[in-house]
Amino acid sequence: MRKQRFGGYQASVIGLGTGEFGGKCPESLAREFMDAFVGMGGNFIDTARVYGDFVTPRDGESEKVIGRWMAERHNRDRVFLSTKGGHPALGAMWKSRLSREEVRRDMEGSLNDLQTDHVDVYWLHRDDESRPVGELMETLHSLAEDGSARMIGVSNWKPRRIREAIAYAAAHGLTPLSANQPQFSLAVQRVSPDPTLTAMDGETWRLHRETGLVCCGFSSQAHGFFTKLEQGGPEALSGNVKRAFLSEENQAIMDRLTVLKRETGRSVGALALAYLTSQPFPTFALAGVSRLSQIETLREAGETALTPAQRDMLRKMG
Ligand SMILES: NC(=O)c1ccc[n+]([C@@H]2O[C@H](COP(=O)([O-])OP(=O)(O)OC[C@H]3O[C@@H](n4cnc5c(N)ncnc54)[C@H](OP(=O)(O)O)[C@@H]3O)[C@@H](O)[C@H]2O)c1
Repeated sequence: MRKQRFGGYQASVIGLGTGEFGGKCPESLAREFMDAFVGMGGNFIDTARVYGDFVTPRDGESEKVIGRWMAERHNRDRVFLSTKGGHPALGAMWKSRLSREEVRRDMEGSLNDLQTDHVDVYWLHRDDESRPVGELMETLHSLAEDGSARMIGVSNWKPRRIREAIAYAAAHGLTPLSANQPQFSLAVQRVSPDPTLTAMDGETWRLHRETGLVCCGFSSQAHGFFTKLEQGGPEALSGNVKRAFLSEENQAIMDRLTVLKRETGRSVGALALAYLTSQPFPTFALAGVSRLSQIETLREAGETALTPAQRDMLRKMG
């Protein structure tokens, strides 16, 4: 699997998503996914303090599964580890949790459950526009200063706030922002299942293009939209995926993917992921699987690169 620079590190262009580990995805299966992923050369694993059990919210379920797996495999130093904190309490999404104390407490829990003394990149999972950007950057900086985060990033932030964060860190001599994590897939999303999520848009795309800020796109397969559409038609899509992605615009992208599939011999799933990892700024695709067979698409995507012409033919941004 291809790797590219992420700050001072080399991380696989595909990051394994672990949102359901310890919940819908039992530990034994999660371990099979992680073993298969590192077996194919992947090293980027993305988790968060709140991942694991969205049904009976309990903090750290996904992190505990990953921590036990790394301890048993003795591979912490070979994993590029990413986690997030400061998510609102599940079930009370309106109540922001981004005070310095809350974020630092989340980090402490993460390190404990991941059985490590640092993570490679630490993200604020959400923004809270009632708090000044400077305050949030000072909090992130404190985590970089004490060594618990090698790099810092933000997720679900608007481009205006990201620009402010970059400027604030530069003006105050703080740890710079290393990355942004928006929802980003080849499919254009019509409606979001969660209004607190922020998707890649033209303005954010131009920000990355101008600054070279690393992008990690989440839900990067649009929940398997193109593969399922190709294999089973609209009936194969769940209600949520249909509402979010079934549109004339995405049907037209599907048609262009089919042409590219014929030209390259690559699957539509791999091409859709390669669309992200072939952007003109460093982009990683965070992708989840629910069955071991689906991991093959991640391997294929990790070995696929599109030319700028192929990428823009699929969907031109910016
Ligand atoms: N920062 C944030 O706020 C945020 C938000 C969401 C996610 N994330 C991160 O991004 C990761 C990935 O998110 P995600 O799971 O929503 O993304 P995704 O990769 O777009 O969707 C994963 C789902 O797509 C389906 N799928 C996977 N491979 C497939 C294949 N080859 N063919 C057909 N369907 C396939 C599976 O669902 P089926 O069971 O339906 O087949 C799988 O569970 C998360 O685990 C997390 O690490 C971050």
